[in-house]
Amino acid sequence: MARPEAPAWEDREPPEGPARTPCGAPVSPSLELLRRYTASDLGVFTPEEASRFLPQGDGDPQNDVILAWELLYRLEPELYDRLAGAERLHPGIVGWLPCGVDRIAEVGAGTGRLTMELIARGQHVVAVEPARPMRLILKRKLAAADHGHRARVVHGFFDQLPLPDDSADLVVTCSAFTPAAGHGGETGLAEMERVCRPGGCVAILWPNHLGWLAARGYRYVSFPGPMSVEFGSYADAVELAEVFFPGAAGEVRRLGTRMVPFEVLGINPPRDLAFKVRAG
Ligand SMILES: C[S@@+](CC[C@H](N)C(=O)[O-])C[C@H]1O[C@@H](n2cnc3c(N)ncnc32)[C@H](O)[C@@H]1O
Repeated sequence: MARPEAPAWEDREPPEGPARTPCGAPVSPSLELLRRYTASDLGVFTPEEASRFLPQGDGDPQNDVILAWELLYRLEPELYDRLAGAERLHPGIVGWLPCGVDRIAEVGAGTGRLTMELIARGQHVVAVEPARPMRLILKRKLAAADHGHRARVVHGFFDQLPLPDDSADLVVTCSAFTPAAGHGGETGLAEMERVCRPGGCVAILWPNHLGWLAARGYRYVSFPGPMSVEFGSYADAVELAEVFFPGAAGEVRRLGTRMVPFEVLGINPPRDLAFKVRAG
């Protein structure tokens, strides 16, 4: 097992980056996503989802970008998958994670950007994901890669993980955890630590709210080097920029390439993680 207490790269006090949604997109009032869905789409949430994402009983995705993302996961999961596939994680992150372990639990697995990498690092992977349309895409990918037998995809939320105490060597989440109760919060962090065995590692990839995590004993690792969003094609770059990064769409058009530096889109690259080794 790799040694999370001895990161290979940089281990320093976390800076607070620019505001962005759990998915990395900048929180901007002009975000096209805000115009994409309306309150009439909220019926797609199950009662369990509504209790977390609509704690007051209602909401307006045209004024609440986090709600708009949750609708995206359920109404247009393939669109999300195209974005996540382009926003590849820095290889240092995956290389840093413990390898050769028995059990890995991932929370908020989405369509599997990280899950597909975890398969090579553990004997058994359980991917917890609340949104059914995202789970279906992930299951399809695992089956296509012939990994169905090594990975289990299950329904669940940060604050109520359907996993026993001390049952994983690594508990990990990527671009999903925030301090907000509906997306993790204190209860979600405690749940990830409960599921992690003593001596195991809890890792939050592409973290936001770094000061919040540092105050809870999480250490920070960042991997250097230029990073670009690797869209499938130039046409894809333009189309996805118009939806997710409208302020940068003109520059993406001008660049004329499928590779767009993260700075052009105005977001932090997925080059960092916060982690804690559970006391043994
Ligand atoms: C930005 S996506 C990230 C997905 C994937 N980890 C990736 O890196 O592409 C956020 C994911 O967190 C999930 N999510 C949202 N709220 C959650 C909660 N309370 N508990 C667990 N997962 C949650 C969403 O359904 C979505 O799949």
